[in-house]
Amino acid sequence: MNRFWSSVVHTLTPYVPGEQPKQTDLIKLNTNENPYPPSPRALQAMVAEAADTLRLYPDPNAERLKQAIADFYRVMPAQVFVGNGSDEVLAHTFMALLKHERPLLFPDISYSFYPVYCGLYGIDFTRVPLTDQFEIDPADYRIANGGIIFPNPNAPTGRLLPLAAVRAILDANPDSVVVVDEAYVDFGGESAIGLVNDYPNLLVIQTLSKSRSLAGLRVGFAVGDTSLIEALERVKNSFNSYPLDRIAQCGAVAAIEDKAYFERTCQQVMDTRGRLTERLTELGFQVLPSAANFLFVSHPAWDAEKLAARLRERSIIVRHFRQPRIVQFLRISIGTDGEMDALCQALLEILA
Ligand SMILES: Cc1ncc(COP(=O)(O)O)c(C=O)c1O
Repeated sequence: MNRFWSSVVHTLTPYVPGEQPKQTDLIKLNTNENPYPPSPRALQAMVAEAADTLRLYPDPNAERLKQAIADFYRVMPAQVFVGNGSDEVLAHTFMALLKHERPLLFPDISYSFYPVYCGLYGIDFTRVPLTDQFEIDPADYRIANGGIIFPNPNAPTGRLLPLAAVRAILDANPDSVVVVDEAYVDFGGESAIGLVNDYPNLLVIQTLSKSRSLAGLRVGFAVGDTSLIEALERVKNSFNSYPLDRIAQCGAVAAIEDKAYFERTCQQVMDTRGRLTERLTELGFQVLPSAANFLFVSHPAWDAEKLAARLRERSIIVRHFRQPRIVQFLRISIGTDGEMDALCQALLEILA
């Protein structure tokens, strides 16, 4: 509390990101970072850029990056918006497209930044419960609303909604913007970007933080109808003309262009996820089916928070959410095979 604060600041409940520990010898499985380094081509491009042009402002419209994303997904550059991480793209989306009279809908268990943006922008919202199996049921989204947003795969559950079900939500809501947050889609999902030419109300948001190993660079993007993108540009250009610096723009272009590296590392993560699912199941865990670079698990004989604390004592950090319905679950990011071996060994000792 402070008398100098504006009234809105008093009402805010900010998002709390997963811990980024100073200690470097931890096995860090708490924020869904990629265990593999970024594309070597991206690293080279960024070093060259840093040596040359940093005294100059970057391209405010990030045209090369928009072109690279447009080429990758076979859309027009005018259908692409880029921002400082998908969190910033989401923030502009909430303000530009999701603030209406009727409440915004999103799942009760979902990315916990959504209600924070609603608080910041004064957006009314309704949480739509997932099914008992933690699935999104499209039938639940046939109620009056001022917009819809959900992650696909969902976070923190990892569960994937098939594209036909995404279509069903779009078909039932032609007068609302439907935002699909595809932060994790490259680990086994099918992107809804292929639907943007069929649905002028669809906005798909992705990030380079997960599947392209660039969480530290902060690059996210949205793809949708040009009129939706124009709304985002209007907000962005009323806030910060240069959200992506020169290094971020050129590193992101090279990462998008290095498709072979991207596909190889995503496959490695998916293979490791399959093996970890088997091993955790053998250890007695209930493992939700995941199409993301993490698993959402619970153990019938162990309190999840206690288990997270025991892992932490062994220098392994995973994510626990003190939240209704999921308080007995842990979210575990997929690391290297070596890290997963260490995790399983630690669990074996703790559960013994
Ligand atoms: C569902 C979801 N959306 C968006 C983000 C934001 O990612 P970034 O801002 O790094 O692009 C995250 C990060 O964990 C996420 O889990």
